[in-house]
Amino acid sequence: MCGIVGYIGYREAYPIVLKGLKRLEYRGYDSAGVAIYDGKNIQLSKTKGKVVDLENKINQKQAPKGTLGIGHTRWATHGIPNDINSHPHYSNSGDLVIIHNGIIENYTSIKKELVKRGYVFHSDTDTEVLVNLIEDVIKNENVKLGKAVQIALNQVVGAYAIVVFDKKKPDEIVVAKLGSPLAIGIGEGEFFVASDASPFIEYTTNAIYLKDEEMAIIRRQKGVKVRKIKDDSIVVPYIQELKLNLEQIEKGGFDHFMLKEIYEQPNVIKDTYRGRLLANEGIIRLGGLEDYIQKFLNADRIIIVACGTSWHAGLVAEYIFEDLARIPVEVEYASEFRYRNPVITEKDVVLAISQSGETADTLAAIKLAKSKGAFVYGICNVVGSTISRETDSGTYTHAGPEIGVASTKAFTTQITVLTLIALKLANLKGTISSRDYMNYLRELEVIPQRIETALKANEHIKDVAKVFKNSKNFLYLGRGYNFPVALEGALKLKEISYIHAEGYPAAEMKHGPIALIDEQMPVVVIAVNSNHYDKVVSNIQEIKSRKGIIIAVVTQGDTTVKAMADYIIEVPYTSESLTPLVTTIPLQLLAYHIAVMLNRNVDQPRNLAKSVTVE
Ligand code: F6R
Repeated sequence: MCGIVGYIGYREAYPIVLKGLKRLEYRGYDSAGVAIYDGKNIQLSKTKGKVVDLENKINQKQAPKGTLGIGHTRWATHGIPNDINSHPHYSNSGDLVIIHNGIIENYTSIKKELVKRGYVFHSDTDTEVLVNLIEDVIKNENVKLGKAVQIALNQVVGAYAIVVFDKKKPDEIVVAKLGSPLAIGIGEGEFFVASDASPFIEYTTNAIYLKDEEMAIIRRQKGVKVRKIKDDSIVVPYIQELKLNLEQIEKGGFDHFMLKEIYEQPNVIKDTYRGRLLANEGIIRLGGLEDYIQKFLNADRIIIVACGTSWHAGLVAEYIFEDLARIPVEVEYASEFRYRNPVITEKDVVLAISQSGETADTLAAIKLAKSKGAFVYGICNVVGSTISRETDSGTYTHAGPEIGVASTKAFTTQITVLTLIALKLANLKGTISSRDYMNYLRELEVIPQRIETALKANEHIKDVAKVFKNSKNFLYLGRGYNFPVALEGALKLKEISYIHAEGYPAAEMKHGPIALIDEQMPVVVIAVNSNHYDKVVSNIQEIKSRKGIIIAVVTQGDTTVKAMADYIIEVPYTSESLTPLVTTIPLQLLAYHIAVMLNRNVDQPRNLAKSVTVE
């Protein structure tokens, strides 16, 4: 959470930092601030609210001038969102300025010590404690900023990505990372730092991704020096060439990133399987998997760890792996798994699923699994992310940057990767016939077309959204492969429209939730072709006899459910195991349109952040 940006070079820093903050706003948006330094004066502005509020505030004065600047967009952890708690924060002398993403867990004890030594605190943040700790080290140990940061961070417990500069050193910024991401863009005579590469992609495609427990001193003329925080040893950084382009991080004519990302799904799924799925030859080739295939084939079980939407993708995978490859699967909330003292052995394969690759709980679950000897495989979207580096091997989803806070294309591309793995294992184990295997491969290859067809229902879904936009509650029901889709549909609605919604396995209804059914309750039922179709039809009847309103997602040409439901949304036929890839689409669109009609901030829903790098 929190987005951080920094610039040091020869251009005016403010426009670069401001634009960067707008691109990083998906990471947190309850307050924002910048500090720009012209070598004499630091101009610091910050405010509760969004980056645009900061911009308006600054527009009332004069744009700050200077070729060194830092900026922050916040998702509050310590201290409520208000002007004072916003970053950047000054040290007591006013010489040091810091921005921080993460949590300093032992800040209370450090603060107590600093208060004893006469330090005064204006905010409730852990960040202000850190900047004063650094100042205290400079004073007491008579060292320069870089060394002071290193000494101070060795006293700190928690997670951080920080950028700090000292008024006395106008040609230098110092950055450090543990647990939260930090990229350094290397230009010619200029340097950028940011939580991801999007703020500097139009200036340079060369970047260093700092590793945990690394810090860098960036000097305007002399460049970047990377060191280990623990022992100050020098690190030779790896400069990576970025593949990202500007178009990928802009809205491309859509009103919201979320809608753009929903519509990108046919293309990004092709990107996910490109070069990996050769349907006609009957080949699935996943680079990260080939050398480790025996680990999967010999595994006692697969344990999937993830959070949120990625956890839902894990639930879909449970059905696919067990059904097709006959491997026992357990799906765990990473946040529970990490603290549960779970039984894990060397014969377990742990699959970690994460769009951002930065989710703190998933990361901790991975570390726990590794410490117990399990083989850990990652499925991430963000290339070079912490989880992708911490896992033993893995597969990228190649969905491209997902900016909308509500996950959409990440979900379907995760399912695509998981399906490829399951099919490969099923084929090797002989748990499905070669005819079925070939049919699945061919069907997976045309899934992008099926999704194109599903997207054609958009206008009709908008009409349905109009009818239900003022409903107070929604129920989402599905069975088998589409039970996780019901959970995901409900999550999408909750997070962007703030309407209460619950997902349930359709048959569980009569064990409680059926009491909620009345003529006010819209029930979204996924009733596509499946082994459970007749059972779902019975569940619909149960709801109808209690006057519930049915919005049914059905397979094109369905007549039975059509005759019973109040509203139907059609999706094209596909094999049952692949249905989540198409049934998800109308649920994403329904949530989107309801949220737009309610004037919600679709891409930046309240209280949420795109990557949850704190537990
Ligand atoms: C929901 C959503 C979140 C994430 C969750 C995990 O739309 O975006 O529930 O799925 O925070 O994030 P990743 O996949 O980045 O680990």
